[in-house]
Amino acid sequence: MRSEVNADIPLAAPGEFPPLRLSDGIEVWPPVVLAPMAGVTNPPYRTLCRRMGAGLYVAEMLYARGLTMRNAKTLHLASFGVDEAVRSIQIFGADPEEMGDAARFLVSELGAGHIDINMGCPVRKITSKGGGSALPARPALMRRVLRAVVDAAGDVPVTIKVRLGIDDDRHTWRDAADVAADEGARWIGMHARTSKALYSGQAQWDFIARLKQYARIPVLGNGDIWEAFDALRMMRQTGCDGVIIGRGCLGRPWLFRELAQVFDGREPDDPPHLGDVLAILREHAELLVEFFGPHKGVRELRKWCAWYTKGFDGAAKVREGLQRITDLDQMDGWLAHLDESIPFPRSALRLSRGKRGGSQSKVSLPEGWLDQAEAELAEQKRLMREDAALG
Ligand SMILES: Cc1cc2nc3c(=O)[nH]c(=O)nc-3n(C[C@H](O)[C@H](O)[C@H](O)COP(=O)(O)O)c2cc1C
Repeated sequence: MRSEVNADIPLAAPGEFPPLRLSDGIEVWPPVVLAPMAGVTNPPYRTLCRRMGAGLYVAEMLYARGLTMRNAKTLHLASFGVDEAVRSIQIFGADPEEMGDAARFLVSELGAGHIDINMGCPVRKITSKGGGSALPARPALMRRVLRAVVDAAGDVPVTIKVRLGIDDDRHTWRDAADVAADEGARWIGMHARTSKALYSGQAQWDFIARLKQYARIPVLGNGDIWEAFDALRMMRQTGCDGVIIGRGCLGRPWLFRELAQVFDGREPDDPPHLGDVLAILREHAELLVEFFGPHKGVRELRKWCAWYTKGFDGAAKVREGLQRITDLDQMDGWLAHLDESIPFPRSALRLSRGKRGGSQSKVSLPEGWLDQAEAELAEQKRLMREDAALG
């Protein structure tokens, strides 16, 4: 099944796209990465996605300090299934020493096989402390953070994930790409929106193409891949080396099967009928309850109920009930109102899940953050002049 925009997109030709190289020992095929998503890419969901397809599945962002302080909740989220071949995890923070310590802990204690650094998060809680997308606006500090993590990670590959920049007046992707290449990041992933834009408008894929032209390391494109064919389209349009999939897979883990199929040159299976979707939701529900316990598990489950059923006839009528469930029997009771024979509606292929539209009026940064960036730049230029003078 395809929507209009992908009607004429050919399947991948043999050899058209090489595997994505994460390190000497790790190649990712298809070149597809499940985006780290807070409250989403926990062990239950990664298990489900992995069963459907292939690629790399990144755990959600964890605060470096939560890891270094051995916070119980953070450590629980930092756990991995026995069958996770590459333990891939994202951290955030703005303190080089703390980030280095967190990386060391992840590698030595948790057996991490890939560390991604969040340099793109737009939310106030993170940027106001200098983390997420605030970091590339201070390239000198970003360099210290990245260097600390790469040094601490040793042979374990480190990557970064960014946005275009703070807002349209302050794009940071060029600086981020320079620092990433200098300091040994294996790739740079970019969500092609600014932090100010949040999830509004369309992702600006042309900037992914510009980043690809500019960067000295592999580039992963991110933003608005809803269908497997979108991934092929993004890679062909931008020349990027791989893609990162976020909201498109919310309540649609089979997207990873479709991605594996189109990259292998095969027409993808049609998405499942509602009955099969509900069977997957049931399995997901059990995994959540097993991982989080019955109380938190069911609370976590409510949003998934909305995502899995979104766009199906009759779903709107049961949505409110599903948002109030306190156990799995109640979920089954509400879902029993739905007609299991309904095929997946084409109109639901590109429905956004997980985030509302709308931008933020201002990205919250620590006091004097951008002035410090100017001062660091001036200092860097002075040092370069001194170096040049010394010959
Ligand atoms: C619910 C949710 C949680 C997210 N959490 C994170 C996160 O922990 N780390 C991160 O780098 N990005 C996070 N993101 C952003 C996604 O990784 C991705 O960059 C963004 O959704 C754009 O891709 P998409 O258009 O495919 O959704 C989150 C997005 C959503 C919808």
